Amino acid sequence: MKIEKCAVLGAGQMGGGIIQVFVTAGFETDVWVRSEASEERAVKKMEKYFGKQVEKGRMTEDEKVACLSRINYIRNLEDIKDADLVVEACAENMELKADIFRTLDENVKPEAILATNTSSLPITKIAAVTNRAEQVIGMHFMNPVPVMKLVEIIRGLETSDEVYAAVEEMSRVIGKTPVEVNDFPGFVSNRVLQVMINEAIFCLYEGIAEPKAVDTVMMLGMNHPMGPLALADLIGLDTVLAILEVLYDGYQDPKYRPCPLLKQYVDAGRLGRKVGRGFYEYE
Ligand code: CAA
Repeated sequence: MKIEKCAVLGAGQMGGGIIQVFVTAGFETDVWVRSEASEERAVKKMEKYFGKQVEKGRMTEDEKVACLSRINYIRNLEDIKDADLVVEACAENMELKADIFRTLDENVKPEAILATNTSSLPITKIAAVTNRAEQVIGMHFMNPVPVMKLVEIIRGLETSDEVYAAVEEMSRVIGKTPVEVNDFPGFVSNRVLQVMINEAIFCLYEGIAEPKAVDTVMMLGMNHPMGPLALADLIGLDTVLAILEVLYDGYQDPKYRPCPLLKQYVDAGRLGRKVGRGFYEYE
């Protein structure tokens, strides 16, 4: 299975980063955005990112122009037809993903691999809405995508060895380190990470320490590059809550119970960096 052409669905925090690594590695990439406004935002984001690469001396102006020219914006999902690998990076909503995968299955060439960047929804369930479950796989990138080395590759129940091997190879080609895991709630990354973040929120909720203190303990004491509360703000508190709910529902185990303070922050719209306010305030 040779991957030459890619498609990325969504150009938000994660999709945007995935586009950047694909086109930097030389892949022609169709990018599906739903509205004119999101296309404009994506165009600006890409110009800014590749402009910075030039400023930092990582690429020439010509290479930047070449990267940008590899992006082909598409507004109609049905028009994604000839990609070898499609990576969906849309909202974490099972119904939405099911609709998208049904449409992909009907329109993208039969041999194509359909991947999802979901951080916690079951790959097996997404695959089951298609007629090519053996070609559906999880390709879970970490935020910020251009910087983080990991791609957690999640095999659904039916994912074939050939498809796994092709996605593993592709991850290496784009400069990442693939790690294979099976399809259970939260996979490995979020099963471990979100419990730590939730526990940090409980420390705040129970008045054990202020946000800065919690984060400093983890940064200076455990050598984490950023504290769990700052990381929750980076990921988005709505996403953190959604993942904890998947874990809680999936395992029916109280250790995944989302902290009430997290729910309250989400209700208040304090969703983290993307809105300028979460556990911390941002400009
Ligand atoms: N996009 C692209 N590059 C970015 C970036 C972004 N959003 N944010 C930072 N960077 C780059 C910077 O440009 C800089 O690059 P250079 O060294 O080439 O100049 C580099 O990252 C380091 O940035 P800074 O010096 O500004 O800051 P830092 O040293 O504190 O690093 C960090 C920032 C990389 C975000 C670091 O704090 C870190 O690794 N944090 C932990 C991130 C993490 O755990 N991510 C996983 C989240 S979980 C997830 O994604 C999956 C899920 O399912 C929820």
